[in-house]
Amino acid sequence: MGTSSEATLSSGHRLADDVRRDLQASPKRLQPRYLYDALGSQLFEAICELPEYRITRSELHLLTTHGAAIGAGMRSPLIVVELGGGNGEKLAVLLSGLVDAGVDLTVELVDVSATALELAARTLARFPAIRVTPHQTTYEAGLQHIGEQRIAEGRPGGMLVAFLGSNIGNLDPSAARRFLTMIRGGFRSGDRLVLGTDLVKPESELVAAYDDVLGVTAAFNKNLLVRLNRELGANFDLDRFAHRAVWNAAESRVEMHLESLRAQTVSIPGADCVVAFAAGESIWTESSYKYESAALAALGADVGLARHDQWVDEDAHFAVTTFNAV
Ligand code: AVJ
Repeated sequence: MGTSSEATLSSGHRLADDVRRDLQASPKRLQPRYLYDALGSQLFEAICELPEYRITRSELHLLTTHGAAIGAGMRSPLIVVELGGGNGEKLAVLLSGLVDAGVDLTVELVDVSATALELAARTLARFPAIRVTPHQTTYEAGLQHIGEQRIAEGRPGGMLVAFLGSNIGNLDPSAARRFLTMIRGGFRSGDRLVLGTDLVKPESELVAAYDDVLGVTAAFNKNLLVRLNRELGANFDLDRFAHRAVWNAAESRVEMHLESLRAQTVSIPGADCVVAFAAGESIWTESSYKYESAALAALGADVGLARHDQWVDEDAHFAVTTFNAV
């Protein structure tokens, strides 16, 4: 997932259209991708440093320790593809492990965000011998292009696709299945997926990770309203909304909401709408699905991906899992 805003010609219209549709829906919602404007991206970086939010540190630790094992047995020269990698730090750690194990590799970065691609390319400059190719496009188009290029160049080696950071957690179960099916569709036998997923854990830890005492996650969530005020001329009064993080056990997800603290009306001229809120009504801004280890293996098996190996941080309850194309 891109973690930066993009100034494309159409993005303003898309934001307006999405906001109009999603705030007129019931329940009201907003797309999580709009959390990542320039300030939102910085706030997410800050979240990754919070004591309560352990995903990033835990994953970095697992990738540092097991980098070589993640690519073990794959055919050289390896094509390493990262989907939506953000700043490239996690990929750099994985690559270190592979390089130390003597793996010959090239890297393909796929992200819709030009900013994220530039950051990642800069991080990977510490490996001057590795050819890094950015693809500023959707995951699907990027994988398609990389697959065609692989055939055109007659590359004999395997492909390792990395989707890290528990970014899969933003997808609901059917979208996650479609996403993995799409990845599997581009695989040849011997190719591998490495997936980082946050696991189910005690509710108090789950909620604290999304409602930290410093209020950084609250700022990250409310920044969405700041963005609508700035980009669409809306008049959200931030003091009249509260950040909420809720564990929905039945759906196995943490939900972020912005709750209206009173009955109020907000106008959003850039989206051509006026939105009425009841007291206590909320805007659902994000879901972060949490997995059980067994459910993860079942999800892979369902789409033709056999679990190959798994490393679990038993303290933070975070897993890095590899899947082979069967
Ligand atoms: C980047 C989507 C994995 O869901 O944990 C962090 C985003 N939201 N705190 C997550 C996020 C609130 C994060 N992902």
